[in-house]
Amino acid sequence: MTAYGYTILCASMQVLQGEMIMDLGIRGRTAIVCASSQGLGKGCALALAEAGVALIINGRNQSLLEQTAREIREAWGVAVTPVAADVSTAEGQAALLRACPAPDILINNNAGPPVRDFRELDRRAILDGITSNMVTPIELIQKVIDSMAARGFGRIVNITSLSVKMPIVGLDLSSGARAGLTAFMAGVTRSVADKNVTVNNILPGNFDTARLRSNLSVAAKRAHSSDAEAAAAAMAKIPMKRFGTTSEFGHTCAFLCSVHAGFITGQNIVLDGGAYPAAF
Ligand SMILES: NC(=O)c1ccc[n+]([C@@H]2O[C@H](COP(=O)([O-])OP(=O)(O)OC[C@H]3O[C@@H](n4cnc5c(N)ncnc54)[C@H](OP(=O)(O)O)[C@@H]3O)[C@@H](O)[C@H]2O)c1
Repeated sequence: MTAYGYTILCASMQVLQGEMIMDLGIRGRTAIVCASSQGLGKGCALALAEAGVALIINGRNQSLLEQTAREIREAWGVAVTPVAADVSTAEGQAALLRACPAPDILINNNAGPPVRDFRELDRRAILDGITSNMVTPIELIQKVIDSMAARGFGRIVNITSLSVKMPIVGLDLSSGARAGLTAFMAGVTRSVADKNVTVNNILPGNFDTARLRSNLSVAAKRAHSSDAEAAAAAMAKIPMKRFGTTSEFGHTCAFLCSVHAGFITGQNIVLDGGAYPAAF
């Protein structure tokens, strides 16, 4: 490594609790992290807090949300504002934007549709799924992207699903709505790329969260097996033979929000322990 390269490397590292960690270059920035009182959203919130980002976190259950806010403040000492609201509604989005009208970082997340045979979905259920996983993130992006572009910095990450690339029977509505978001954003992304605003999607495979455990429970009931057997069967299909952790997910998200990821945009980052069976 050249002396210049070594200096850059040292400048972007810091010592924390005896370990060298990379400085993501976003200390002091602000982020709205939707649907983040637990699970993947909370993983993103924690990793951004670790990088020194002030947070707006969100969920509908106020006590869980406040508990998460306390946990993040105590762990990383950043400002955390909890906004208890349904992010799929106009009022919920307005409440988030009142708390932070011009965030530097937006993490789009929401509940996914329940596992269901597509024949059982009526029009209301289909429109609700599309509202949650396609319309809501688009609406939030519409409201923050121009101010990001004007300031010359913005990072948007959409939490989608591996099911966008790989069929998962019973999650067809989730796949369709998120694929719609992905295609919708592909052009938008390029329109702000020269303003240092990036938009990327993370496609989770199986991560150990309440949502995954509840989906496994449904699968177990259908197969007349136990939840533990369903979990073991799901892990066996993953080359890494385990589920991902919310910390692994959150740190990947925080990296995409970092200064170092400034040349990555319009990408679909698959995090699945090798489950997607293709060379490209
Ligand atoms: N875990 C996985 O393996 C996996 C894989 C692929 C895709 N995904 C997708 O990733 C997303 C997150 O999954 P997860 O596993 O982290 O789920 P989770 O553990 O159930 O957490 C969901 C979080 O979203 C909040 N939330 C749900 N609906 C909301 C709403 N309308 N407004 C505001 N907050 C809301 C929940 O809090 P409240 O309930 O209190 O609102 C909670 O904080 C989902 O869309 C899921 O389908 C997950």
